[in-house]
Amino acid sequence: MNSLSSSDQLVLALSKGRILKETLPLLASIGIAPLDDLSVSRKLILDTTKPDIKLVVVRASDVPTYVEYGAADLGVAGKDVLLEYEGTGFYEPLDLQIARCRLMIAGPVAPTAVPTKLRVATKYAGITRRWYAERGVQVEVIKLYGAMELAPLVGLADRIVDLVDTGNTLRANGLAPLEHICDISSRLIVNKAAMKTKHARVTALVAALSEAVAKAAARRPR
Ligand code: ATP
Ligand code: PRP
Repeated sequence: MNSLSSSDQLVLALSKGRILKETLPLLASIGIAPLDDLSVSRKLILDTTKPDIKLVVVRASDVPTYVEYGAADLGVAGKDVLLEYEGTGFYEPLDLQIARCRLMIAGPVAPTAVPTKLRVATKYAGITRRWYAERGVQVEVIKLYGAMELAPLVGLADRIVDLVDTGNTLRANGLAPLEHICDISSRLIVNKAAMKTKHARVTALVAALSEAVAKAAARRPR
C-alpha cells in the first residue's frame, strides 16, 4: 500500500467545512499554512509552509478513519464525530476549543400527544441509542444524514438529536431545545503508532497547538 505518512513526514487530516475555517488560523499562528489557496484548489493533499507537514482535507466524519488507520498521523475532528465513531486507534490529547456548540435533544415547541415509544431522528444514532438506553427509555432511532430539523415538521419523528449553537435553526422551525447531551468542540487526535514512532515531532506539534489554543482563549471576550 502506498503511504503518504512516511517516517520523515507528518500528515494532518482536517475536517472540511466550518471546522476547517477555524483550524486554518490556529495552524497559521504556529507557522503552518497550506501553499495552495484552499478556496480555489482542488488538490486533496496539500504541501505547507513546513516541508515535513502535509494536510489532507476530508469529510468531517472521515477524519477518525484516516487517523485510526494511520493514513494520517494527526487529525482535527468534532467531539460529536469522535463520540459517534467509538474508535480506539487514536489518542485525543487536545481540546482545540473551536467549532463549539452543544449536542441537544429538541422537539416541537407545541408538541402533539407524546407516543409511548418516541421516534428520534438524528445523524448521531450511536450516541442517541446510548443516551436513551442509559436512562432506560425505549426509542426508535431514525438515522438521517442532514436537515434533522425537518423530521418533526413532516411527522417523521417526535424528537431530534442535533447540534445547536445560536438556536436559530431550531427557532426558525418551531422547535425548542429539551435536553443537553454534551458540549462539543473540535479535538486534536493522534494515531497511536505515530505517537510512538514520531514521538518528538508529534509532541512538539501538540505543545505548539496547546499554546496557540491558550492564547486564543485569552483573547476571547468573556
Ligand atoms: P459531513 O460532510 O461529514 O456530513 P457536515 O456537513 O455536518 O459534515 P459541518 O456542518 O461543516 O459538516 O460540521 C462539521 C462539524 O462542525 C460538526 O461535526 C461539529 O463538530 C461542528 N459543527 C456543526 N455545526 C456547528 C454549529 N452550528 N456551530 C459550531 N460547530 C458546529
Ligand atoms: C448545524 C446543525 C444545526 C445548526 C445549528 O448545521 O446541524 O442545523 O448548525 O446551528 P444554530 O443553532 O446556530 O442554528 P449546519 O449549518 O452545519 O448545516 P448541515 O445541516 O449541513 O449540518
